[in-house]
Amino acid sequence: MTTRAFNPLSRRQWLKSSGLVAGGAIATQSLSPALLPALEAPAAPAVVNGQTTLEGFLALEREVEAMRRADGPIRLASNENPYGMAPSAKQAINDMWKEHAWYGAAAVPELRKIYAKQMGVPEDYVLVTAGSGDVLSIVALAYAMQGGEVLTPWPTYEGLPRYAEALGARVHKVALDGDLAHDLEAMERRHVQSVDLVFVCNPNNPTGTLTDSAKLRAFVSNASRKSVVLVDEAYHDFVTDPGYTSMIDLVKAGENVIISRTASKIHGLAGLRTGFAIARPDIIARLQPCVTSFPGVFGARAAAASLQDTAYQNMCRDRNSEGRAIMQTAVKALGRRMTSSHTNFVFFDTGMPVEKVQAAMLTKGFLIGRAFPPYSTWARISIGTPDEMKRVAAALPEIVKPATTGQ
Ligand SMILES: Cc1ncc(COP(=O)(O)O)c(C=O)c1O
Repeated sequence: MTTRAFNPLSRRQWLKSSGLVAGGAIATQSLSPALLPALEAPAAPAVVNGQTTLEGFLALEREVEAMRRADGPIRLASNENPYGMAPSAKQAINDMWKEHAWYGAAAVPELRKIYAKQMGVPEDYVLVTAGSGDVLSIVALAYAMQGGEVLTPWPTYEGLPRYAEALGARVHKVALDGDLAHDLEAMERRHVQSVDLVFVCNPNNPTGTLTDSAKLRAFVSNASRKSVVLVDEAYHDFVTDPGYTSMIDLVKAGENVIISRTASKIHGLAGLRTGFAIARPDIIARLQPCVTSFPGVFGARAAAASLQDTAYQNMCRDRNSEGRAIMQTAVKALGRRMTSSHTNFVFFDTGMPVEKVQAAMLTKGFLIGRAFPPYSTWARISIGTPDEMKRVAAALPEIVKPATTGQ
């Protein structure tokens, strides 16, 4: 599938390119108004050969912006995809009316097959789960029960450390470095022999930071000689940094490594709970008995369609980069410290307790992220549509003071 750059194309441009407008002007003046609806150009298809079209995406964007505005407050708290599922995914769900009633429907094994092929691994390297949060719990169950020990950066996505603590595991938390990224040297020092499981999240949540791929690869590879290492790549699809690579090659090289990925983010399927673990077959076999829930058939069908809809992923990624740049410009204008985000959220120091920023943002119609101690004055704001981010950027200086006067 060829990927194309996302240049918003107006309906007029589309009409012109499709030959429905002669000389750039619609020749409707002489027509009776009664005839006009019949002569309106047919809506362009939203999906062609499994790929969301630009026209389909723009129509979706208009629809979601109106719906999110009407629903209010606009959700910018949980790193969700504002566009939701791809039109191709919607079609896939519409086509499976009876499968939802079955146990053992083909949807999940078929998704596993498609995913394994895309990742370039045999099928027995893949476990399809009910969201990638489920991978984190399953791995904690498999490796950290009965007095297990976990090594993790902090703060990070809390799913695994929290669950491991609930299981009675000892969790070693290693503070982030000065750039709020993983401090791999400090983690290496804390990686004692008794650690069963090492967790890293790249890019990290809540900071959005990316760890240098070569350094992370060396760290993971070394660490995996002592313990199993789980690399959470939930935000993999938003990364545009040319130096970034996934750690999946370590799995392919047979190392003691598990990768988790999700359909919740760029695929916009958070509510349909679909995630993936990729690891050596013996590791997958160890995880299998710890599985507690069943991925649903709607999520599996939608994810299968969306994984193949690269046009939709590209458009979501481009729009995300656009919205993120708007936010970064706004925060920079205030002179506030901000991490370098490679995700669908930004993280910056507001100079005041984030609860106050949250409350003020709510009055402006935006729901933003909670506090992530010890960064209690830092706000995490998820990226919505570019138009939404323009409105957040306009509201921000009314709430957050410039760094020079506001510290
Ligand atoms: C880093 C990270 N991992 C995992 C998850 C869990 O996502 P899901 O269970 O929807 O796949 C999230 C959710 O925000 C996340 O930020």
